Amino acid sequence: MSDIMERVVALTKRRGFIFPSSEIYGGLQATYDYGPMGVELKRLIKDDWWRDMVREREDVVGLDASILMAARVWEVSGHVAGFNDPMIDCKTCKGRFREDKLAQSQCLKKKKLTPLECGGDFTEPRLFNLMFKTKAGPIDDDAATVYLRPETAQGIFVNFKNVMDSTRVKIPFGVAQIGKAFRNEIVTGGQIFRMREFEQMEMEFFCAPGTDEEWHEYWKAERLRWWQELGVRKEKLRIRDHEADELAHYARGCGDIEYEYPWGWDEVEGVANRTDYDLGHHQEGSGRGLAYRDDEKKEWVVPYVIEPSGGVDRCFLTVLCDACEEEEKPNGEIRTVLHLHPRLAPTQVGVFPLVKKDGMPDRARAIYDDLKTRFRAAYDQAGSIGKRYARLDEVGTPFCVTVDGDTATDGTVTVRHRDTLAQDRVPAENVAAFIGDALAGWTRG
Ligand code: GAP
Repeated sequence: MSDIMERVVALTKRRGFIFPSSEIYGGLQATYDYGPMGVELKRLIKDDWWRDMVREREDVVGLDASILMAARVWEVSGHVAGFNDPMIDCKTCKGRFREDKLAQSQCLKKKKLTPLECGGDFTEPRLFNLMFKTKAGPIDDDAATVYLRPETAQGIFVNFKNVMDSTRVKIPFGVAQIGKAFRNEIVTGGQIFRMREFEQMEMEFFCAPGTDEEWHEYWKAERLRWWQELGVRKEKLRIRDHEADELAHYARGCGDIEYEYPWGWDEVEGVANRTDYDLGHHQEGSGRGLAYRDDEKKEWVVPYVIEPSGGVDRCFLTVLCDACEEEEKPNGEIRTVLHLHPRLAPTQVGVFPLVKKDGMPDRARAIYDDLKTRFRAAYDQAGSIGKRYARLDEVGTPFCVTVDGDTATDGTVTVRHRDTLAQDRVPAENVAAFIGDALAGWTRG
């Protein structure tokens, strides 16, 4: 693991963002739990996506479909036959690797070498289906087989007609969904980068055949804009179009939005042109009409689909990798700080009394009680002021307000800026307006 990644992983544990799942029993590989800070950040990411993709658009509506879906959905979608990774086993170290990821894997015996370098004795590649299968109901036979969805998208396709019939949407329009997905990944890693249980933010945009290429370009640009507005540095983001041999079984084209992680460029979101593959197959498989009436052509047409599909957890990791820095303070001390965009900061303002006496806690509490109605605020009076600042720097709190001895005499407080360490003296009655302006005017330095 690189130094930066080690720093991020340590910080996420230390400050309550991410914990290994089932940790007191030794952990469960490739599953993680979100702690008190993590659950806030994750919710803020999802809310931001929903605001941008659903609430502020007239042409996208929302959906929340079930995780367990009928086996037939996945047979017809092509996932039972085609959602496979090529896997090889090493008879020497007993490792199991994805054939297309050998360069990023590690030999289990010679840990500094990849399976391409270690000289192991490998089996021929075999296809391994990534879907988790389970049984629904009291009878344990094949008819009871159901799958945990490996993508949320199919829940949208099978509800296409329900949404058309129950709302006033007309082609072109989108249906968006955020929810859990499950894949029995062969190669996991990068902490929450590749897990077996994760969350997706997906939108299926239904459009007329022939307009799909234009919409594909539109959505690639739109999605990149959103990533940049989250505060992720522009130079660390790029779009890479897939080669033909990388495309999923349903896609005609795909542009990946990639971030430059500590280990190199990797996918954070895919924007795919799924054509009429899914609706066409479900129409045939279910016998239900999944076409719309084209009033100009006077015929029924199965729409094409453009799909922006991103991972919530991967977005979380991207935001943290991008925000986390180790810096030297003017006094020579080293601090770890998260330069999070204020809209993603779990706590936007911390309020402290300098010491626990001379009426400072009461004054600080009154300010906190006011600020918490307008911002995500935290109150803390325990320990040295330096430790309290350090703690909030590590969870990305953009501003701290400190009540000190002068507050009682001149009515001012100190506002300390996370990014620059600058301190301003501000009248206590103006502090909410001051913080509001500072949050709104924030830019990454
Ligand atoms: N419906 C299309 C689809 O699922 P995908 O490229 O397989 O496409 C979309 O997944 C996004 O979901 C990825 O860009 C990534 O952000 C996230 N994702 C996929 N597999 C993941 C995993 N095992 N762990 C965490 N996130 C994952």
